[in-house]
Amino acid sequence: MSALKILVIPGSLRTGSLNAKLAAVAAHVLAQQGAETTPISLSDFPLPIYDGDLQAKSGVPKHAVNLKRMMSAHHGVLIVTPEYNSSVPALLKNAIDWVSRVQDVHEARGQVFRDRVFAIASASGGRLGGSRALAAVRLILSAWDASVIQDQLALPFAEDAYDEMDRLKNAADADALKAMARQLIDVSQRMM
Ligand SMILES: Cc1cc2nc3c(=O)[nH]c(=O)nc-3n(C[C@H](O)[C@H](O)[C@H](O)COP(=O)(O)O)c2cc1C
Repeated sequence: MSALKILVIPGSLRTGSLNAKLAAVAAHVLAQQGAETTPISLSDFPLPIYDGDLQAKSGVPKHAVNLKRMMSAHHGVLIVTPEYNSSVPALLKNAIDWVSRVQDVHEARGQVFRDRVFAIASASGGRLGGSRALAAVRLILSAWDASVIQDQLALPFAEDAYDEMDRLKNAADADALKAMARQLIDVSQRMM
């Protein structure tokens, strides 16, 4: 059987991003559990704010097509998103909006969301760990009938969550991350 491939997308571009850090730790845990992981940065897929006039005039930008195809090349996708004003950051929402407009040959629009498995995680300096962003991103993906696994990780007080080796200090957080990775792999394998 070919290796199970998981794409890992942090929803922040910031240097020192807590979510990029959690994404890196999650990618490591997924790899330890046997998945082939591809960590990406949305900075490699720069997109204008979605505008229907722009799409009508120039089509979907190539970076949106590339991001969609990158997702299509993986069995599962882990999104690690910050929470902005109780919701999903514009960067991530805009990327999803553009990807949802891509229609490759022999595919329905949005098929990229339906044909693979998603897991979601968030890190925040606050005590809720970005759980409202997780509810928002789950709603967006579910609206496309995506399979979003039940296990998710909201990491609170994330500035203090790591030891000097960049491992999660709190055993409960580390266990939750391992369980989420296991579930993402198991459900993705069933959909292979
Ligand atoms: C515009 C803006 C809105 C924010 N809103 C929230 C929020 O609603 N809830 C929360 O927990 N943190 C909020 N934060 C704080 C972020 O969780 C924090 O900046 C976090 O470090 C961002 O993720 P990053 O480190 O991956 O870039 C907000 C930050 C910004 C810049």
